[in-house]
Amino acid sequence: MDGATAKKPTVLVTGAGIGIGRATAHAFGKAGYHVVATDVLAAEGGAVAAEIVAAGGSAQFRLLDVRSTAEADWLVSDLNAEFGALDCIVANAGIARKVPLDDLTDEKWDETFDVDLKGMIRVLRPALPPMKARKSGTIVCISSIMGIAYGWDEHVHYSAAKAGVVGLIRGLAVELARSGIRVNGIAPGYIRTAQLLSEQHSLGPAAAQKAGEFIPMGRIGEPEDIADVVLFLASSAARYMTGQTVVVDGGLLVGRY
Ligand SMILES: NC(=O)c1ccc[n+]([C@@H]2O[C@H](COP(=O)([O-])OP(=O)(O)OC[C@H]3O[C@@H](n4cnc5c(N)ncnc54)[C@H](O)[C@@H]3O)[C@@H](O)[C@H]2O)c1
Repeated sequence: MDGATAKKPTVLVTGAGIGIGRATAHAFGKAGYHVVATDVLAAEGGAVAAEIVAAGGSAQFRLLDVRSTAEADWLVSDLNAEFGALDCIVANAGIARKVPLDDLTDEKWDETFDVDLKGMIRVLRPALPPMKARKSGTIVCISSIMGIAYGWDEHVHYSAAKAGVVGLIRGLAVELARSGIRVNGIAPGYIRTAQLLSEQHSLGPAAAQKAGEFIPMGRIGEPEDIADVVLFLASSAARYMTGQTVVVDGGLLVGRY
C-alpha cells in the first residue's frame, strides 16, 4: 500500500489475481483509483497490487474467499472504516465447472452458485449502508453471454448462475437508484483467460482459436477489452445507466455463422 490514498476513489475487485479481474484492477489503478485487489490466490493478488504500486498507482491486496460471509463482512467493514465507503465494487470472481447433467448433484450446483451468484451479494451487502449514506457508489457485476443468450451444455448450473447475475443487477439497480448507487454488469464473450483456456472445463486453446475465426471481429477478447468497459460503467460517463448488462463479445451474438 502507498500513503497517497486519501483523495483517491476506492474500488474493490474480487478475483483480481488473474484474468479479467487482474486487468480490471490495473485499469482502475491507471485511472487513479485506490485498488483493493482481493482473491483466494494470495501470490497472484499480491503481485497485482505490487505491480499497480510500482507503476505509480495505489493498491493493496486482501485475501477474500467470496464463499465466506464472515470474511466478506469483516473485510468490507474494515474498508468502510478506513475509507468511509467504497466508491466502486467489481464483483468478478467466478468459476466455470463442466458437469454433465447426470452428475449435477446439489453439491455441484451449490458450489457454482455459491461463488458466481451468492459470492456477489456477500461482498455488496456490507458495502451498501455507507454508500447509501453518502448517496453515491457504483457496482459492476460480471455475468456472461452464457447467462443472457447462449445455453451451455454441461454447464447448466453456470448458465443459471450467470442469468441470476443479470437479475441481481436489475433488482439492485432499482432498489438502489434513489440512493445514488448505480448497478450494471458485463456479459463477456470468449475472453483469453485461464477459465476459457481450460481444456477440462471450457473451450481449451484449440476451440478458443477456432472461435476467433467465427467471431465477427476476428479474434477472441483480451481481459483488457472487458476491463475498459468496467471502468466506463464505473465512471461518470455512464451516469445515466443503471440495471444494464452490456455484452462485450466482438460481435459474437449478433453475428451469423
Ligand atoms: N473468460 C471468459 O471467456 C469469460 C466469459 C464470460 C464470463 N466470464 C466471467 O468473468 C469472470 C472472471 O473470469 P476469468 O475468465 O478472468 O477467469 P479466471 O479463472 O482467469 O479468474 C477467476 C478469478 O476468480 C477467482 N476466484 C475463484 N473462486 C473464488 C472464490 N471463492 N473467492 C474469491 N475469488 C475466487 C480466481 O482465483 C481468479 O482470480 C468470472 O465471473 C467468469 O465467469 C469469463
